[in-house]
Amino acid sequence: MEPLLSAVIVLLLVSCFTSSEALTSNNGNITIKWDIMSWNHDGYFALVTAYNYQKHRSVPSPGWRMSWRWTKKEVIRSMVGAKTTERGVCSMFKRNIPRSCLRKPTVVDLLPGAPYTQQIANCCRGGVLKPGSESEFEISVGKAGNSVKTVRLPGNFMFTVPKQQYVCRPAKNVRPTVFMSPDTKRTASAFMTWKIVCVFDKAT
Ligand SMILES: *[C@@H]1O[C@H](CO)[C@@H](O)[C@H](O)[C@H]1NC(C)=O
Repeated sequence: MEPLLSAVIVLLLVSCFTSSEALTSNNGNITIKWDIMSWNHDGYFALVTAYNYQKHRSVPSPGWRMSWRWTKKEVIRSMVGAKTTERGVCSMFKRNIPRSCLRKPTVVDLLPGAPYTQQIANCCRGGVLKPGSESEFEISVGKAGNSVKTVRLPGNFMFTVPKQQYVCRPAKNVRPTVFMSPDTKRTASAFMTWKIVCVFDKAT
């Protein structure tokens, strides 16, 4: 074979290998799970959990940011344990103004000193996520429809960390999470669960 041609083939093989490795990283991933726990008059309440399944990589201060693009005309009615960075234009709402009417909202964790009423378990660490730990918040979504048939998965997920770049795959429906009560005698199931897997791509 021509030396040039074989060099090109080797290069192609190497680049195939490295890009597929980035997609199925042995170094772990960040998995973001949305569990729909209940319905409201035109949407749902979800518990959102971000797990750091990376063995050696922390999300340092000032912490993660998460953003996505709504598929319909969803709005964020309220949040506990995290907050949106911007409200956007909510002029069509005269009462009960949503927290965010942006098509692409951005969410950040609260600081450890957040008021008690705005905290839930595993929240409020200023977005710091050590290996093996998780970060949680509750979100109330409006204008989503209140059944499994009307809810659309958000798209274009981004998980942003200072000086680290992650690539997130599209959200995927998975079997609804089963939650166990603390006494492990009763179980409850989420109505719907989806997951987004984000993999570290490079330092920036
Ligand atoms: C993400 O990490 C978890 C925990 O190690 C693992 O179970 C899962 O398969 C990983 N997902 C992908 C798509 O790499």
